[in-house]
Amino acid sequence: MTGNLNNSTTPPVDVVIMAAGKGTRMKSRLPKVLHQLAGRALVQHVVDTAADLSARQVTVITGHGAEEVEAALKASAKGEFVLNFVRQEPQLGTGHAVQQTVPVLQNDGVVVILSGDVPLTQADTLRQLIAASAGTQLALLTIDFANPTGYGRIARSGDAVQSIVEQKDATPEQLAITEVYSGIMAVPALQLKRWLARLDNHNAQGEYYLTQIVAFAVADGVPVVAHKITDAVQVAGVNSPVQLAELERACQQRLALQLMEQGVRLADPARLDVRGQLQCAQDVSIDVNCVFEGEVSLGEGVRVGANCVIKNASIAAGAVIHPFTHIEGGQPGSKDAVEVGAGALIGPFARLRPGARLGAEVHIGNFVEVKNSTLAKGAKANHLAYLGDATLGERVNYGAGSITANYDGAFKHRTIIEADVHIGSNCVLIAPVTIGAGGTVGGGSTLTKNTAPLALTVARGRQISIPNWKRPSK
Ligand code: UD1
Ligand code: MG
Repeated sequence: MTGNLNNSTTPPVDVVIMAAGKGTRMKSRLPKVLHQLAGRALVQHVVDTAADLSARQVTVITGHGAEEVEAALKASAKGEFVLNFVRQEPQLGTGHAVQQTVPVLQNDGVVVILSGDVPLTQADTLRQLIAASAGTQLALLTIDFANPTGYGRIARSGDAVQSIVEQKDATPEQLAITEVYSGIMAVPALQLKRWLARLDNHNAQGEYYLTQIVAFAVADGVPVVAHKITDAVQVAGVNSPVQLAELERACQQRLALQLMEQGVRLADPARLDVRGQLQCAQDVSIDVNCVFEGEVSLGEGVRVGANCVIKNASIAAGAVIHPFTHIEGGQPGSKDAVEVGAGALIGPFARLRPGARLGAEVHIGNFVEVKNSTLAKGAKANHLAYLGDATLGERVNYGAGSITANYDGAFKHRTIIEADVHIGSNCVLIAPVTIGAGGTVGGGSTLTKNTAPLALTVARGRQISIPNWKRPSK
């Protein structure tokens, strides 16, 4: 659900994403926030959540790997909001990070502060947080942790929040507090700017803590509300490959659950990976260890066998994708996306590459590779074959071991096989070439010239036998 908070009763939402940190524990050359979770960069998840909130502007604070992070986010920007980047160099703490955004923040908004390495916060949770701030209050997202070590503690006097105390500054009594600050807050922009100007670094770490603003709010008489949640996944950060893998599982579990709630039958929800968008009609079933990437749609009754990898493809109703099939479509919506027609049978061990467009009831069998080719209804290539840059008419039967020789070393050429043609086994069709409708090509033929409709064409050495042949002997 996309809720629009930008109406007359609620202030515009401006999102700030902290993403300047180094991510030392990832032990990677890639900036931490660009590591992938469910097929998207960590920080992209956060930006997409901001889009879900109908944010007016999203400001990303970059530092380590700034160029790379900015380039990645610009490349995927959809223009639903203003995307700003501010640099923080050197990194002197979370408060110092948010100070960098002051020049680009408007005064009339409510600012939601997020981290680029906390990818699974749900938009609904943030809507509740924004509602708790009511445009005038400081709202903190908090959670109870049995082991709160390392987190800022929510210090209260009675019920009222007084301050956030960082681990290294806490007294033994404060260390016993289990309610912690998640790192996420919603705060009126004008107040935020005033409080940011007052931050100091007189603390155990010598950093400018964003969390110091809580004490300023209390001193200024601005109510501080804690919106406490119980779902730890929503505030979990990624600091190491182990945590990344844990969140990947949590994310996949969530996606698997959603699919099953829609009626999709998953042989095992723990053995499914969706790295993009998977749309399923009614009565789809998916066996174990399948990976879906990019945009994939499965029509009614589609069955996907075990161990298939399917990227950017639309698979029409009733098609069966047998085990170990690899489908790799190009750009979604382009002619390079893969299409599989209704009732088609694909695999096992089939490979469909960019631009494979298969009509209804097409059969593609084991070890058959199809690239940039159109197969009309009922065409079949059942065994060990290559179809590249080819157009096949209805009911064509393409024999085992046959290939289209589509590349002359410089250019690609098309092979056209008209309706009802029967290509024998082990043929080489040297493109450009057209096989006329209803024709037959004898097994083992190498074709360089077009053939007439209904003709039988044989292009191979004639078989000869020499009777009673004696092999040479010493
Ligand atoms: C912060 C909070 C703590 C909270 C915890 C939740 C502060 C002072 N403390 O602590 O109360 O419980 O998050 O995870 O805010 N970053 C920058 N520039 C900097 C420093 C950090 O961009 O100069 C970014 C980091 O990349 C990260 C985020 O800010 O995305 C949080 O920084 P981190 O160092 O993890 O803060 P914590 O010490 O964990
Ligand atoms: Mg942290």
